Amino acid sequence: MEPHKIIIPPLKSQGIKTKLVPSILDLVGRASATGRWIEPFMGTGVVGFNAGFSQTLMGDANPHLVNFYTSVRSGQITPLHVREYLEYEGAQLSLLGYAHYRLVRERFNTSYGPLDFLFLNRAGFNGMIRFSRKGFWNIPFCKKPDRFQPGYITKVVNQVRRVREVMTEDWAFTSGPFESLLSSARPGDLVYCDPPYFGRYADYYNGWTEADEARLLGLLERTPAKFILSTWSHNAFRRNPLLDLYRSRFEVRTMDHFYHNGGALANRNAMTEALVFNFPAR
Ligand SMILES: C[S@@+](CC[C@H](N)C(=O)[O-])C[C@H]1O[C@@H](n2cnc3c(N)ncnc32)[C@H](O)[C@@H]1O
Repeated sequence: MEPHKIIIPPLKSQGIKTKLVPSILDLVGRASATGRWIEPFMGTGVVGFNAGFSQTLMGDANPHLVNFYTSVRSGQITPLHVREYLEYEGAQLSLLGYAHYRLVRERFNTSYGPLDFLFLNRAGFNGMIRFSRKGFWNIPFCKKPDRFQPGYITKVVNQVRRVREVMTEDWAFTSGPFESLLSSARPGDLVYCDPPYFGRYADYYNGWTEADEARLLGLLERTPAKFILSTWSHNAFRRNPLLDLYRSRFEVRTMDHFYHNGGALANRNAMTEALVFNFPAR
């Protein structure tokens, strides 16, 4: 069988699960779910775009992620719009450098346009997504004014085209806290949860407390659907204190994963990730 070619989304983020998609899809195949894919912490959407479900409900507390994909879904943003927009803004960035990044950032912080969100995500430092306490874009410029070369623009345009192709009539995106999507899960659905990890980072849309984790766990225990939860197991310095609790109630699979900082740092960044789930997977 041909290996699954992973669909890479046009938005980037630090916690993106691209590398773990094959392990997650292996479990998805074993869940034999016949209903909907429900993903309340979609982030960039990379997992849902690859999950292969026609009926899909994706959500996130960050309305800008949701607004971007809703605009792609509705045709308000097409691959052609993305090309024209990035060609124009990319040329301005080459000409004016940081001053143009600042201009787009200010425009986004007042009008929250989905194309400006894409631009800032791609021209910001390390493809990160972070908002200030006032809800403003809070990532510095990547310092590469010539970033938007023709080949780079074509890559992003193709990513937009590809994610649009997988969105059937039965796809929907909603913005808000995880509880509402998770509570809507029915028997036959498969819920995939990738909440923020404790203590990693926090921003306007992305804080995560013990109380959030407890509410999530309570809902997962009661859901009539099948679920897969992504979390971390351990690294060189710490163990996830919740993993024993998960093991006593659900199934757990662990996978080694390296974050890409390279060289001598690689070992320090080795993290064993875990998938927690509530169905037999042999
Ligand atoms: C670890 S990221 C998900 C990454 C995603 N799986 C990917 O590969 O791109 C967690 C996401 O949860 C969202 N989030 C944080 N708190 C939330 C909440 N209470 N309800 C719903 N989404 C939340 C964040 O905005 C962020 O996009």
